[in-house]
Amino acid sequence: MLNVQQVSFQYPGGMTAIRDVTFSIQPGEFTAIVGGNGSGKSTITKLLSGLLQPDAGSVQLFGNPVKAGKSGVGLVFQNPEDQMVASTVEDEILFSLENQRTAPADMPAIVEDVLQAVRLEGFEMKEPFELSGGQKQRAAIASVLAMKPDLFIFDEATSMLDPTGREEVQALMHQLHHQGTTVLNVTHDMEEALHAERLLAFQHGELAYDGAPAPLLHNTAFLQELELVPPFHVRMLEALKAEEVPLQETYFSEERLVDALCHLRPRT
Ligand SMILES: Nc1ncnc2c1ncn2[C@@H]1O[C@H](COP(=O)(O)OP(=O)(O)OP(=O)(O)O)[C@@H](O)[C@H]1O
Ligand SMILES: [Mg+2]
Repeated sequence: MLNVQQVSFQYPGGMTAIRDVTFSIQPGEFTAIVGGNGSGKSTITKLLSGLLQPDAGSVQLFGNPVKAGKSGVGLVFQNPEDQMVASTVEDEILFSLENQRTAPADMPAIVEDVLQAVRLEGFEMKEPFELSGGQKQRAAIASVLAMKPDLFIFDEATSMLDPTGREEVQALMHQLHHQGTTVLNVTHDMEEALHAERLLAFQHGELAYDGAPAPLLHNTAFLQELELVPPFHVRMLEALKAEEVPLQETYFSEERLVDALCHLRPRT
């Protein structure tokens, strides 16, 4: 669906931010992009959504070059304060529908649908200052949903939210995925990355890993090199292994680890 071929990009006067990156995304996938500060995560999302054009290589969606605005790629940013441009939640969604040249007669039903999807029914007339961070982020997601993007990108969309807002937005990502949306979630929270089907890790603008989450999340030395903190249960696993607790399997989920610990025999 999305094809990224040998893409490189340099900011004017800056260093190379993305270097020779190749990967593709299949319809319906839930992928997380991970990497330390400055590794190129936001730059790649801008290249994928057409906000930036590659210096070399190509980004294609269904075989066509992506273009900003009508690219079929929806982007939700980090800061909920940056998200809303209109004065009410409803206007925010209408604004994005007008950009898409949606027929005015179809608009009310779409507004109702997307507000229901993000559980903001009754918030139509709310102004930004009346919303919590999580609600603002959900309003932003509603306005992106209204564009019916083929690919939904979240760029650290939960990192500025409190735990409740974070859970709400994460739940919404997974709900969209279960409904068939292709999701790309940029995060440096490995607890969040755990739930993706596939991880792409960036390091100094290069793609350093592309594969299943478990092998990367259990490779604590590599994670450290990537400036990422292993998920809690992997740190726990390392500590237990250091104490020579017999844990045989190569990869554990949190549930599997709890289960294995519950079935340990006492040391004699
Ligand atoms: N507008 C810009 N002009 C010049 N250089 C930039 C610009 N935006 C980013 N960069 C540089 O490009 C590199 C990649 O930045 P990018 O924002 O993509 O990283 P990131 O992985 O999203 O980081 P973070 O985790 O902090 O969000 C960095 O070296 C950064 O300093
Ligand atoms: Mg970023």
